[in-house]
Amino acid sequence: MENTPSWLKDAVFYEIYPQTFYDSNNDGIGDLPGIIAKLDYIKSLNVNAIWLNPCFVSPFQDAGYDVADFYNVAPRYGTNDDLKQLFKQAHARGMKVILDLVAGHTSIEHPWFRESCKAEPNKYSNYFIWTDDWGGGAPGYRFINGFAERSGNYMINFFYCQPALNYGFKNPDPDQPWQMPCDHPDVKAVREELRNIMKFWLDMGADGFRVDMAPSLVRGDSTGEGIRELWADYRSWLNREYPEAILVSEWSHPSEAVPAGFHIDFMVHFSLPGYTSLFRKEPYRIPNSPFTGGVSFFDRDGNGDAKLFAEELAEQLDVVRNKGYVSIPTGNHDIGRIRQGRSDAELKVAYAFLFTMPGVPFIYYGDEIGMDYVTGLVSKEGGYNRTGARTPMQWDGSDNAGFSTSPANQLYLPIDPSEQRPTVAAQEKDTDSLLNFVRKLVKLRRESPALASDGEFKALFAEEKKYPLVYERSLNGERYVIAVNPSGKNAAAEFCCPGADKAREIVGCGCNLTANPGAVTISMQPASFAIYAI
Ligand code: GLC
Repeated sequence: MENTPSWLKDAVFYEIYPQTFYDSNNDGIGDLPGIIAKLDYIKSLNVNAIWLNPCFVSPFQDAGYDVADFYNVAPRYGTNDDLKQLFKQAHARGMKVILDLVAGHTSIEHPWFRESCKAEPNKYSNYFIWTDDWGGGAPGYRFINGFAERSGNYMINFFYCQPALNYGFKNPDPDQPWQMPCDHPDVKAVREELRNIMKFWLDMGADGFRVDMAPSLVRGDSTGEGIRELWADYRSWLNREYPEAILVSEWSHPSEAVPAGFHIDFMVHFSLPGYTSLFRKEPYRIPNSPFTGGVSFFDRDGNGDAKLFAEELAEQLDVVRNKGYVSIPTGNHDIGRIRQGRSDAELKVAYAFLFTMPGVPFIYYGDEIGMDYVTGLVSKEGGYNRTGARTPMQWDGSDNAGFSTSPANQLYLPIDPSEQRPTVAAQEKDTDSLLNFVRKLVKLRRESPALASDGEFKALFAEEKKYPLVYERSLNGERYVIAVNPSGKNAAAEFCCPGADKAREIVGCGCNLTANPGAVTISMQPASFAIYAI
């Protein structure tokens, strides 16, 4: 792997939403000392890295993705010293920590933006993208009018309170003179600001960044040349100055993100139909694609399509091989919980799949115990329908599920009210629990290079609208065959796999593999899976 830190070879990440992980000072909101107090637990999952959602000063109109000070930890989470301690304590346990870099925008309360709003030109006037008069705009972009003293509208990236930083236009429209080229000195100044922010946290001990909305930074860039140049520049700087640090993108197109300079890109719900068809049952439109959703391969109704996914994955892997990794996370703070509508047995099938995928898995906090999406919550800090996937971690059977000792009505979000809600404490005691299953799979993965990041992926049975899915992972002569049947029906497959007569089941339930000369057959019960060493 060129210029890629070797710790990624067997990396498995744990994503922590700081406000709902563990509250150490009884104010109803999670904090950094709380995360430090739980590091041994995180380590017990056998993961070797953490991704921390934004923890910086913010008015929290988008849960911290609206940063008002990139250089300081939000007081509700602690101090910069606490973050430094977190790096130190995680490192002492052999774990890395990456931060969330909200590169594309700030909060409207950021001092740069406040200065930029002023009529009097100043250093920050062009740090954001403003039209040159209050009636202005341009198709394809979103603007807020009537906000500032200066005569112009500002471009936004997401919510109205997230003004877009000015990384320039690759091909400025000559009819829109407010569009600045990428080499404009003010644009270059913004680019340097981002580098300085990265440098500050890397010097303090961070191991890299998950970059929010990574493809969105450069405008007027239909070929993608501008965005590739931008990230390639940061990446070559990292390679030189911080070769162990990594960049993970929220791009959802590894075959674009990795060549642009990222070490890892997520396959998530907003652009890849194959991935989306794995876990999402609801109708779902992907822009520029005929995909309309409504299918889910990991579903007892069994209406999914493994072929679409297997082909898409193979295409992505072909491009990123030897350069970087795909990541198929269990979930994240922007989508529903993987638990929704699935039993423990069904979740085990999904996890057998997720933890034997090539690239770098990410576990969203609480998914290891099967926390559910909580319905009916009022939106918190711009969460809207994402709010239900952000509820407090369920540690034990005590008040507030052990998340906080503050009064229940002061919690950041309520605890899942279900009487069956899973907890870490209960699952610790049960050798068959989801938690212990996740630990076992992550350990197996990290001890078996063929199952880890670099192992090759080959579909052995992935047919349109058929179950099961069977694939091989291999590296340097080590081989595994994995079969998953998430449907509620028996399933069987015949495929080719030389050497399968030596197959040894390492983990699994409800599968029967028979190797005949020339072909292998597998018969599988509903919600079954197996990992075989060959
Ligand atoms: C990303 C984040 C999301 C946030 C948005 C705007 O998609 O994951 O939580 O709201 O960017 O920053």
